[in-house]
Amino acid sequence: MSEEAINYPVPDAAMKGAHVSGMPAYLKLVAEADVDLGAYWARLAREFVSWKTPFTQSLDESGAPFFKWFEDGTLNASYNCLDRHVERGRGDKVAILFEADDGQVSRVTYSDLLARTCRLANALKARGVKKGDRVVIYMSMSVEGVVAMQACARIGATHSVVFGGFSAQSLRDRIAGAGAVMVITADEQLRGGKQLPLKAIVEEAMTLGGCESIKDVIVYRRTGGQIAWDASRDRWMHEETEKQGDTCEPEWVGAEHPLFLLYTSGSTGKPKGVQHSTGGYLVQAAVSTTWTFDLRDEDVFWCTADIGWVTGHTYITYGPLAIGATQVVFEGVPTYPDAGRFWKMIQDHKVSVFYTAPTAIRSLIKAAEASEAVHPRSYDLTSLRILGSVGEPINPAAWEWYHQHVGGGRCPIVDTFWQTETGGHMITPLPGATPLVPGSCTLPFPGIAAAVVDETGNDVPHGQGGLLVVKKPWPGMIRNIWGDPERFKVSYFPPELKGYYLAGDGSIRDAKTGYFTITGRIDDVLNVSGHRMGTMEIESALVSCTALVAEAAVVGRPDETTGETICAFIVLKGPRPTGDEARKIATELRNWVAKEIGPIAKPKDIRFGDNLPKTRSGKIMRRLLRSIAKDEAITQDTSTLENPAVLEQLMERN
Ligand code: WT7
Repeated sequence: MSEEAINYPVPDAAMKGAHVSGMPAYLKLVAEADVDLGAYWARLAREFVSWKTPFTQSLDESGAPFFKWFEDGTLNASYNCLDRHVERGRGDKVAILFEADDGQVSRVTYSDLLARTCRLANALKARGVKKGDRVVIYMSMSVEGVVAMQACARIGATHSVVFGGFSAQSLRDRIAGAGAVMVITADEQLRGGKQLPLKAIVEEAMTLGGCESIKDVIVYRRTGGQIAWDASRDRWMHEETEKQGDTCEPEWVGAEHPLFLLYTSGSTGKPKGVQHSTGGYLVQAAVSTTWTFDLRDEDVFWCTADIGWVTGHTYITYGPLAIGATQVVFEGVPTYPDAGRFWKMIQDHKVSVFYTAPTAIRSLIKAAEASEAVHPRSYDLTSLRILGSVGEPINPAAWEWYHQHVGGGRCPIVDTFWQTETGGHMITPLPGATPLVPGSCTLPFPGIAAAVVDETGNDVPHGQGGLLVVKKPWPGMIRNIWGDPERFKVSYFPPELKGYYLAGDGSIRDAKTGYFTITGRIDDVLNVSGHRMGTMEIESALVSCTALVAEAAVVGRPDETTGETICAFIVLKGPRPTGDEARKIATELRNWVAKEIGPIAKPKDIRFGDNLPKTRSGKIMRRLLRSIAKDEAITQDTSTLENPAVLEQLMERN
C-alpha cells in the first residue's frame, strides 16, 4: 500500500485495544476467510451468537443463489439480544437511552427491555399471532418500536417495518404484499415539535382494499391525540400488555427462519420485500457492530437512523443489543429545536461512537456556518471516539469537516458501504486497522469478497471503473424477495456475472491502495438524502394521476446537500402549461406523489413539455434528460431525436 495516497493513518489511540488492531490483524482475518469461508463464519457464529441447537454445517451452496447458513442450528434473536445479557448479570446495564422530541430522557435497562418485550410478545400470542405470521410495524422512533420488533422475533413472527413517512397507499402495498395479520402502530408521531398522523394513515390504508388479512391493529399511545377507532380491530398497546406476564419462552427457530422483510426500491416495478434470515443475519449484525464500531462495554453508541430503514434494523434493534451495548435512541430530527441538537445530545449523553448520514452532516455544516451557537465547537464533544457515515457517498469536504469539527481531528471515520440486501457492512474501514482516505469506503469487511468487474464478470484492473459485485456468499445476505424468487435471481444474480451478487452500484478501486470508491447506482435507483427510490416507482405514481398526466420521466439531479434530487419531466393530457399555471400544476403533482408514495418521493423540479425526447424507436432518452436536469449544455448526439423542439421547453424551470 503506498504511503502518499493515505491521508489519515490509524491513530495510536484507535489501534490500542481495538477488536481488530492494526492492518496485520485485518489481513489475518481476510486470510482466514480466504482459506475456508465456511469455517471462518462458523467460528464467528459460535463466538457472537448463542444457539439453542448448535449447527453442524456452515454454508450450504447446493441451492445457489438461494444460499443457506447454519441451517440446522436453532436460536432466537430476541433471546440473543436480551435474555443472555440478563443471564450474565448485565440486566441493570442501560440498553436504551431514549431522548424524546421534546428532550425528555428515559433509560431502559436490559431487564426492563426484556420484560417489555415479553409482555408484548405474550399480547401478540394472545391475539393469535403465530410463528411465521407477518406483522407490519408502522411506528416512529421509540422504545416501543424496538420492543415491537423484538417481540415479533421472540415469537417467530416475521416483522416488516414500514417507515413512518410512507403514505397510506405504500403502507397498503406492503401490508398486502406481506399478507400481514397485524399492524403495530402509534396514535401519532412527534417530530420537530409537530404531531404527525400514524394511526389515521393505517385507517386510510385499510380502506384501500387488500388489507383483509389484518385481524388486529395494536396502537401505542404516544400523544393522546384524537384518532378514529374501530372497536372490532383496534387495541391499545398498554391495555393489551398490562394483562400479560413479563416472561415469555422464546420460540426457537431454525437459522434460516425469516426474521424480517424490509421493502426497498428497485429499478423496475413495485418495491421488493427483501427477506432476511435469523441466524446468518444476527451473526453479521453482531460481528459488524463489534468490529466496525470497535464497540466496548463502556461505549455509548448512537445510530441516528430510523427503524424504518435497514440501518435502524441492524445498527439499532439487532446489532447493538446482540452485543449488550448501551445506545441512544432519538425520536426527533437534527434541526429541532435548533441545528445543534445532535451536538447537544452527544454532549449530554457522552456519546462515544456516532453514526449518521452525509446528508445530515451537510445540512448541519450549512447551519453551523450560519450560526456559531449550533457549531459543534460550541459543545463538548470530547466523549467521541469513532464516527461513522452511511447511506450515500460522503464527499471529501464533508468528510474533512466531520473529522475536524465533530471528531476534533482525533476520531477515525468509518464510511460504511452496504445495502438493505446485504444485512450489514460490506466495505468499510475498521477504526483500529484501516488508514483512511476521505471519500473512500476503503476495504471489504473481512469475509466479504467484494470486487469490481466488467459486464461479463471479469475483474477490471484497479484504477478502472466497473460493476461492484460480491463473489462469495456471506451470512447476512438477502435470502429471497418475498414471494418472488424469479425476481430475486434476475435482480441480484444475473447469469452473465458468473453467479456473483450484483450490488447495483458502480465502483472503482484506487490503482495503488486498492481502496474502493462507490461511484453511484448503475440502475434507475435514486438516492435522495440517503433514501432509496426507484425512478419507475415515481413515474408510475405520476402517470397514475390519469386526470392530468399523459407521460412522465424521472431522473436524478446531483445536489450538494441531499446527494440527489428528483427531477420529473411531464407531458400533460391538456396543453403545456407555463408560468403560474405550470407552478400550480407542479404543486398538485407533488402532492399527488406524496399521497401515492410519501413526501420523500416528491419531485423537487417538475418541467413540462409537449413531448419527451425520444429516439425514432420511441425510447425516452434518459441520458439527455439527466443533462437537462443538471442545466448542462447538451453534448449528446440529438440527431436521432424525433422532436428536437421539446428540449427548449424542458429546459425551462418552474
Ligand atoms: C444504496 C443502498 C446502507 C444502509 C442504508 C442505505 C448507497 C449506502 C453508501 C456509502 C456510497 C452508499 C449505495 C447503495 N450507499 N452506503 N457508504 N457510500 N454509497 O441502504 O436504502 O438499501 O441503499 O445506498 O448506492 O446501493 P439502501
